[in-house]
Amino acid sequence: MQAFFVPKRLAGRRVLLTAGPTFEPIDPVRGITNLSSGRMGFAVARACRQAGAEVVVVAGPSGQPTPLGVRRIDVTTAEQMHRAVMGQLDAGRFDVFVAVAAVADWRVANYSASKLKKSEGGAPPALEFAQNPDILATVARRPDAPWCVGFAAESEDLEANGAAKRKRKGVPLLVGNIGHETFGRDENELLLIDATGSRRLPRASKDSLAAELVAEIAARLPALP
Ligand code: CTP
Ligand code: CA
Repeated sequence: MQAFFVPKRLAGRRVLLTAGPTFEPIDPVRGITNLSSGRMGFAVARACRQAGAEVVVVAGPSGQPTPLGVRRIDVTTAEQMHRAVMGQLDAGRFDVFVAVAAVADWRVANYSASKLKKSEGGAPPALEFAQNPDILATVARRPDAPWCVGFAAESEDLEANGAAKRKRKGVPLLVGNIGHETFGRDENELLLIDATGSRRLPRASKDSLAAELVAEIAARLPALP
């Protein structure tokens, strides 16, 4: 309902996002995941839609409802998320890419197609890992790259680590989570980091922070031709 009063700062824009965790299978009944709920990603997707954008979200396993008017592509693993994002970019132009997903850095390299069984007194299975593709960095390197925004959860020195991460990923804006246990919570506290420095968005609901972030993105986007 609120949407009616939101300025249409992203009218005519197409926004692609990732949201939620990824799940990396060990065997048909087990896997490795993380505590991301997808709440922040879907809040940003909703805010983009309310600002008038056409929005596509590639989401890992998340119970979050799909905001009205938002297109959702469900995936499970980081590799599937990577393929879905590249497929969207290959199929059409996007103005903005926001990587909110907590992508698993590693997948299980020795996935077992049959359920691992324990044996009396036997050794536990030895998992081997392979590194997953960095979706955000790959998107940012494309010649047709949209304007890219990354997210970062750091356990210490958010400002310095966030600034280094922004450079490493080659993105104009990186959003750091200040509050520690933000996963699954309704509230968050953000630090916006760009090439010139950082600005704090004080503790608020994920929905209102998402609206502030969208206003910030819209103000920085190159003008439409
Ligand atoms: N990201 C991504 N693909 C990955 C890993 C991360 O797109 N395989 C994105 C996240 O969605 C986020 C940003 O990159 O927007 C930063 O993620 P983060 O996990 O903080 O950074 P990493 O580069 O993975 O470094 P590390 O986890 O070692 O701090
Ligand atoms: Ca990571």
